[in-house]
Amino acid sequence: MPETPSLSPAWLLTGMGGVLGWGASEALPQHAPVVIAARQRSPLWQDHVGVHLDLATPGSIQRLVEEIGPEVVVHAACLSRAADCAADPERTERINVQAVAELMAAAERVGTFVVYVSTEQVFSGTAERYFEDDRPDSQDVYGASKARAEALVLAAGGAVARLPLLLGAQVDHPHGQLRCGADTAVRLAVQRGERPKLFTDEWRCPVAADEAVQGLWRLAASRRSGVVHLAGNQAVSRYQLGVMALEASGLEAQEIKPSRIQDFTGPPRQARLELDCRRAQEVLAWEPGDLRQSLARLSGLPRVP
Ligand SMILES: NC(=O)c1ccc[n+]([C@@H]2O[C@H](COP(=O)([O-])OP(=O)(O)OC[C@H]3O[C@@H](n4cnc5c(N)ncnc54)[C@H](OP(=O)(O)O)[C@@H]3O)[C@@H](O)[C@H]2O)c1
Repeated sequence: MPETPSLSPAWLLTGMGGVLGWGASEALPQHAPVVIAARQRSPLWQDHVGVHLDLATPGSIQRLVEEIGPEVVVHAACLSRAADCAADPERTERINVQAVAELMAAAERVGTFVVYVSTEQVFSGTAERYFEDDRPDSQDVYGASKARAEALVLAAGGAVARLPLLLGAQVDHPHGQLRCGADTAVRLAVQRGERPKLFTDEWRCPVAADEAVQGLWRLAASRRSGVVHLAGNQAVSRYQLGVMALEASGLEAQEIKPSRIQDFTGPPRQARLELDCRRAQEVLAWEPGDLRQSLARLSGLPRVP
């Protein structure tokens, strides 16, 4: 990756090596060149200007923002696996919270608008449905770190987009770690001859990553501060989602074994996370696609790269 990018004013995108990054690469922002900041270049972004960023290093994002002077930063990079966060709360605090504080300080100096990519997991899952102004109340290390980062962004006049469980393609990442949407993960497991166990009592409103990203770009273009939710409009259990994803691919749904959250031995899980998206509909004219249609569309995707 070159040390100093020549594109300006650009939109700087972080955390684009995973399923959200696949969505972003499918639906690029209009009107602005993009610079990708990452630890290692993802095959998704070979044709784009890339700069090195490791949020574990204090001051790294600050330096980058001050060097590039981007119009917008869409900040999605974080430690995002709940188990990894629970195993290393100190690293989680550094990457998920302190780096965001540095980003906001630099953004204020440079005049950059920040869109922070957050998660439904800022909530504990005890309410039937969550609205944009509900107070985050997650007790787990990941969710609580994302909630603290949200507060920093909002206090500095930035925007927060909370996303649900994402659907999307498989990305073969340079670190060797497989990244893919929840639908693809089930399909790949069945194709490998496994019989995945999926919760019948964990409810989510999944959305295709490329559809969610359309909302992110609109939010960035609007320069509207505050919180929006960009989730699907149908609540399904993990088990139902798996069945629907297999059906959309012509695979046998009986390959999935039903299980319950109480049988899970990892960090506590939220039973129901349903995000109300009315604000995104009103202010961004953003609507998710129909879940079955999105799954059918995604089932035909080739593997990346
Ligand atoms: N996937 C979901 O279902 C879901 C649901 C709700 C919200 N989200 C949010 O969406 C965003 C992206 O999630 P994802 O699932 O697409 O990605 P992911 O596969 O979990 O990867 C996270 C991204 O953060 C980057 N990152 C991690 N540590 C970093 C560090 N020290 N320095 C620089 N970059 C670092 C990774 O970079 P590398 O590519 O270099 O590893 C990767 O691109 C996150 O903010 C997450 O909270 C995701």
